[in-house]
Amino acid sequence: MTAQQQPATAGVHAGYRPAGEQRPLTPPVVTSAAFAFANHAEAAESFALKRAAFTYSRTGNPTVSILEQRLAALEGGTAAVATASGQSAVALALLALLQGPRHLVVSARLYGGTVDLLTDTFADFGVRVSFVEPGDLAAWEAAIEPDTVGFLLESVTNPQAEVIELEPIAALAHARGIPVVVDNTLATPYAYRPLEHGADVVVHSVTKGLGGHGTALGGAVVVGSFDFSDPVRWPQIAAPRERYRGDSLLQRYGAGAYGMLVRSKFLHDLGPALGAEAAAQLLRGVETLAVRAGHVARSVEELAAALEGHPAVTRVHHVSRPSHPQHGLAARDFPRGTGCIFGVELVDEALVAPFADALELVTLAANIGDARTLLAHPATMTHCRLSEEQLRAAGISRALLRLSVGLEDPRDLLADLTRALDAAWVGAGEPNPRAATAASGISPRPTPADVYALAATAAARRA
Ligand SMILES: Cc1ncc(COP(=O)(O)O)c(C=O)c1O
Repeated sequence: MTAQQQPATAGVHAGYRPAGEQRPLTPPVVTSAAFAFANHAEAAESFALKRAAFTYSRTGNPTVSILEQRLAALEGGTAAVATASGQSAVALALLALLQGPRHLVVSARLYGGTVDLLTDTFADFGVRVSFVEPGDLAAWEAAIEPDTVGFLLESVTNPQAEVIELEPIAALAHARGIPVVVDNTLATPYAYRPLEHGADVVVHSVTKGLGGHGTALGGAVVVGSFDFSDPVRWPQIAAPRERYRGDSLLQRYGAGAYGMLVRSKFLHDLGPALGAEAAAQLLRGVETLAVRAGHVARSVEELAAALEGHPAVTRVHHVSRPSHPQHGLAARDFPRGTGCIFGVELVDEALVAPFADALELVTLAANIGDARTLLAHPATMTHCRLSEEQLRAAGISRALLRLSVGLEDPRDLLADLTRALDAAWVGAGEPNPRAATAASGISPRPTPADVYALAATAAARRA
């Protein structure tokens, strides 16, 4: 993104201007696996990576390339590599740093699939990982080992939607020559741009808020400007490699070397390439990012405020609540909100199933950033492979629910949520929370007046 372009503009325009004879106004969907060459010399140079060209869609495709440029622009990065999923983006970004069985320091508040990758698959290959409380700077420092090659954290955590203060963590990492990888999936570049706060690499599950419709999986590694020039510490980038005919990637691609390592080695060798059709769907979602994200941020605040008062709820996890310890930090670093999710802690785990089963509009599903509002129970769904100890470390209780707010009118969402909470509460033998105000005993649904009163209370609290 040029300095002047806001997310709403870059989301629509970056990476594509109509050109050629036909000038399609929208990005063309190029579903070709391979690309033809004019002659033998052109083919040989392209495969030797001496000429920028599309060769085979596993390592580059015109439609995917538009998405890559758009995401790089939105994040203020130098380049981006798109992948088949967010999971593969996280894996490739880290593999390009690891170059063997090294050590990573990572936040204890990570998406469950990332924890699986680190503690199981990477562990099988000898990678060691230290988990730390993301807000505890001394813990990050104490966990560093001589072969630590990366820090990994999420800008907004899942499922509690906590935020991080990135600058001090990045300053510590950089003082020790360690790059910082930030998963910016939940915030999206509409709300937060980690590279501006000290990150070196940004990863995304584009499946989520960026794509916005839950119709296609995709991921991206967005590259910043870390100094990888030490050939002892970063031989995979700064030392000569047989694979690149005795050149180092740094020699050939300068600041683009890390991105080329991700693309030309890991995307090429492991193969998690994004398809052109999925890229086109995700591009369409990115075009509406700013409009959607603004609406969702307002709905999240409204719902978080309104649900806090329900007797079946012990705590709402969202930084927009003035009682939240990160309220001030979020107001400073995340003025456009923190994305689509917030956590709701029920008074008892036993209320989880009746509440989930009583919902009619909100749907039980393990995705986030969809156009539809979705509910997940992390302890039995997204984070079900975590041990009790890992769940505790991640701050996930068995009574915690995650809501991913979609594009519906928040008043309809609130009506559905409060009705299901009431049903679970009454089913558990507690007095009906509306009985005091209802004219005749138990009312199975909140009336429209109830809903508007809750919304008005929420708005008044915010004002
Ligand atoms: C923060 C975060 N990172 C990465 C991923 C993995 O992305 P994907 O499902 O696109 O593979 C997810 C998925 O939920 C996520 O929430």
